[in-house]
Amino acid sequence: MDVSIEVAREAGACFGVERALDMAFEAAEKSSGPVHTLGPLIHNPVVVKALEERGVTVVETPGVGEGATLLLRTHGVTPEVEQAAQTSGATVIDATCPFVKRVHRHAERLEAEGYQVIIVGEEGHPEVEGTLGHALSATVIGSAEEAAALEVGHRVGLVVQTTQSESNLRAVVDAFVGRVDELRLFDTICEATSTRQAAAADLAERSDVMIVIGGRNSANTTRLAEICAARCPRTHHIETADEIDKAWLENAQRIGITAGASTPQTFIKDVRATIARLVGEQS
Ligand code: F3S
Repeated sequence: MDVSIEVAREAGACFGVERALDMAFEAAEKSSGPVHTLGPLIHNPVVVKALEERGVTVVETPGVGEGATLLLRTHGVTPEVEQAAQTSGATVIDATCPFVKRVHRHAERLEAEGYQVIIVGEEGHPEVEGTLGHALSATVIGSAEEAAALEVGHRVGLVVQTTQSESNLRAVVDAFVGRVDELRLFDTICEATSTRQAAAADLAERSDVMIVIGGRNSANTTRLAEICAARCPRTHHIETADEIDKAWLENAQRIGITAGASTPQTFIKDVRATIARLVGEQS
């Protein structure tokens, strides 16, 4: 029986995560002092452990002190946190995703130009907290209902958390239309999440078995697994290739693979190779 193994056309670590991982591994290699990340670099325990094995440990506060290196995550931080890291004497490596930096810049600009700044996003999320630090007067709203309940002035400026959905943004914008004289929107949504979801859905429709790779604590991977399971009942969420059970692949002609935005591309290659070997053993 011919078995096809296909990886979703968009899968695994996005540009920002790959960049941050490269920066972390490079720092581990080159630095003579301790290397830390401010919070776990990504929601993938296997990768966090691999970093730990290279001496990169997680800290919760920026004051790591002289001689140490501190890596700031893709989510970005407030200017105060960055300042605290710099003044502690540490070497600061800023791995904030450039797309998140763009949100910061737009929020700052809107505030400087006198707009009532609104961040469309999830209150308390690290990215949103970081953006708030760049526009202290800003308000965070998560839904059209919250937008409708908000007291608004004449000039409103919106920025958006990078992982928000377009449909939610549209609903929020609709809730402001007709209530303000000037509505300015910087659509700062990053497409990495939505393109991965669309590609996973498309592949799951055509597959007998779907393997979804990523941290069990990763919200975006869990969402990918749900999307796949709704279309392909034989969907399995794994963190590493050694979890794959040969029995999962029995009588499957089309096997699909996808991975969350915090899963390095090397994991996808490992899983593909493991599946090819197991299928080969079965035939
Ligand atoms: Fe950056 Fe988009 Fe990834 S904002 S961290 S490339 S999901």
